[in-house]
Amino acid sequence: MSDTILEVRNICKDFPGVRALEDVSFDLKRGEVHILLGENGAGKSTLMKVLTGVYHPEKGEIFLNGKEVRFETPRDAQLMRIAIIFQEFNLAPNLTVAQNIYLGREPLKRGGLIDRQKLNRDARAILDFLKADIDPSARVEALGVAHQQLVEVAKALSIDSEILIMDEPTATLSEKEINTLFDTIRSLQSRGVSIIYISHRLQEVKLIGNRITVLRDGRTVGTRDAANAELDDLIRMMVGREIKRRRIREKNTARDGFALEVSHLSQGKLLKDISLNVRRGEIVGLAGLVGSGRTELAQAVYGVTRRDAGEVSICGKPVANPTPMKCIRQKMGFISESRKEFGLALNLPIRVNITHAGLRTIFPSGIVDVKKERKIAEEFRKKLRMATPDVERDVKALSGGTQQKVVLAKWLSTDSEFLVFDEPTRGIDVGAKEEIHNMIVDLAERGVGILMISSDLPEVLTLSDRIYVMREGRIVREIDHEGVMQEEVIAYATGGAAT
Ligand SMILES: Nc1ncnc2c1ncn2[C@@H]1O[C@H](COP(=O)(O)OP(=O)(O)OP(=O)(O)O)[C@@H](O)[C@H]1O
Ligand SMILES: [Mg+2]
Repeated sequence: MSDTILEVRNICKDFPGVRALEDVSFDLKRGEVHILLGENGAGKSTLMKVLTGVYHPEKGEIFLNGKEVRFETPRDAQLMRIAIIFQEFNLAPNLTVAQNIYLGREPLKRGGLIDRQKLNRDARAILDFLKADIDPSARVEALGVAHQQLVEVAKALSIDSEILIMDEPTATLSEKEINTLFDTIRSLQSRGVSIIYISHRLQEVKLIGNRITVLRDGRTVGTRDAANAELDDLIRMMVGREIKRRRIREKNTARDGFALEVSHLSQGKLLKDISLNVRRGEIVGLAGLVGSGRTELAQAVYGVTRRDAGEVSICGKPVANPTPMKCIRQKMGFISESRKEFGLALNLPIRVNITHAGLRTIFPSGIVDVKKERKIAEEFRKKLRMATPDVERDVKALSGGTQQKVVLAKWLSTDSEFLVFDEPTRGIDVGAKEEIHNMIVDLAERGVGILMISSDLPEVLTLSDRIYVMREGRIVREIDHEGVMQEEVIAYATGGAAT
């Protein structure tokens, strides 16, 4: 038996006006973890959708165990034991976790009815294997993004697959969950499962990968052994240019006055007596594990959810019964982690999405000047290197990371004085990430107060002036950035340090 399990040759895939894949060849060895790297819009997800029967290529062949195969539908690929965790989740929100994991493959009782007990038991076993603290009978819509991602992983594992494709599985996870996922990957690998793994977190790549293939503009640039690949070399292969290094933040730009003041805020079991503040011109990091209450806190401040107790002031003015509209009027902006739900109008052009939140300031007369709108959008397209030929395309046709860039541009074009960023660079490629960090620092220098939630610790540590660490709905520690060690933040977040 050859040690190549999957091979694709000369794949081409077109979308209207875009050649997403051009003559791509690639092979996967039995039991290896093969990393796929590339900038936003390079064609990674498209290639994976070709391998799983979602898209049909214009040209090219796929060989599985040496035999040519054609996938008409995703089901065909599943039957050949290829499973995928999509970048954009594919869950039914109003079904339970267990129902989602076994959708269409539910265990049946003798009469043909679904065996709910077995369903929940089997789901429990997989979730335990993933060390995921999720109730199999909970509805998916009640879960946060990170837990939804773990349900996707569980779903893929429940198919006894030979090939497992993971499209940015760690984008929403934090350190601890990532380590668990890596343990899972290693144990699958030792059982002979072959894995294709897409990520923008370059630190992960050498840790978990055996080989690395880089795509750029729909073409394969090259394949390297992970053991002797240099990070700088990989970055050069990805972006085809030297990237601008992030400006180191030397000075704290905090000024007098507060962008945010929260005192004794509580909400059910999720948030317990939270007090914190952000000065104008200050970048404050909110660290903690997924599920520690960081997003819930931001949502309670923004009036997405109601709080039971506590006071909140935004830019010096108290907000009694907050709603997002009220907060926006008070010059607050909220860049949500879930771009599909809160961020974007998928069926409208990039141009309209970008100026949407800033309409009032950009066009005070209330009349939209399309030319000006296009100019603003074009500037962001170039600056953030969005993978799209123009700003007239609908957002739904953009790659995952490019959509995230549109969300950011939308809020960066407002005159907000207090901004909450929830996982701002999730799924963003290295080059654009530097650019976004620079923009955040620029905002602070202009006096904007920033609260940043991020599972990317290096991001929190390099950008923040101060860090609050949350655990189980409480703030357990406030750290002045000076001299903070990564370990210290993790220790407080996990309860490893006495508080
Ligand atoms: N359904 C679609 N309709 C039109 N164009 C599409 C569609 N899906 C992808 N594209 C285009 O194909 C190109 C490749 O997109 P793809 O999603 O494969 O990128 P990616 O490498 O996965 O990027 P990211 O890192 O942002 O996820 C992009 O230019 C994108 O706009
Ligand atoms: Mg993608």
